[in-house]
Amino acid sequence: MKLYVDTADLGEARRAAELGFVDGITTNPSLVARQRTALEPLVRELAAILDGDVWCQVVSADAPAMVAEARAMHGWAANVVVKLPMSLEGLRAAARLADTGVRTNMTLVYSVPQALLAAKAGVAWISPYVGRMEDTGISGANVIGEMVDALAAQGLPTRVLVASVRGPRHLAQLARRGVGGFTMPLEVLLGLVGHPMTDRGQEQFLADWERAVFDGRSQGATEATTDQTGRVDA
Ligand code: E4P
Repeated sequence: MKLYVDTADLGEARRAAELGFVDGITTNPSLVARQRTALEPLVRELAAILDGDVWCQVVSADAPAMVAEARAMHGWAANVVVKLPMSLEGLRAAARLADTGVRTNMTLVYSVPQALLAAKAGVAWISPYVGRMEDTGISGANVIGEMVDALAAQGLPTRVLVASVRGPRHLAQLARRGVGGFTMPLEVLLGLVGHPMTDRGQEQFLADWERAVFDGRSQGATEATTDQTGRVDA
């Protein structure tokens, strides 16, 4: 399973890289626009921060221009994955880029037929947006599960990277459906770490530990020694 952070912010990218288990950064034109900087130097810098992939989206309207953009992006850094919008022109561009060494993703995929067409055009990844599906009353888990099943049933190697992940429920619902990865904002990723019972359990462990060390000392031991299991031998 691949795990990406959805950001174009260099500070967030550094924090994501420091975690040590994030597979890369996904960006889109909206995220890049917020940075108020030119795309190429930004992508080069993001690609230098991370060992993993940096996903970068084309903004042209027609296939030849998308292909030219994609080739240029691929030249900026070896770890760039080019995002193409789901459209006839995007599909044409994907087909032209297939087998050229430029890795592609088709983004804004909302239906099984779109997923199948993108796979036929040769993209490595498709990105359905689970949160945005739910915004319109669609069951993201069901539709995305159907996409995974349809690709597998047809023996198509295209993998599903779920975008618009907004919380733990999306991961829990979709990880078992065979999706290949998830992308989410850094704060959403960090929000997956905690659980009230985890926090309470750890507090209890440390309180017990401190009490045991204190008791060992108060019984007159000159030095408290402990083994790896946490037992106190005073
Ligand atoms: C992907 O490119 C999008 O940035 C992202 O996943 C959208 O998420 P949102 O719909 O929760 O804003």
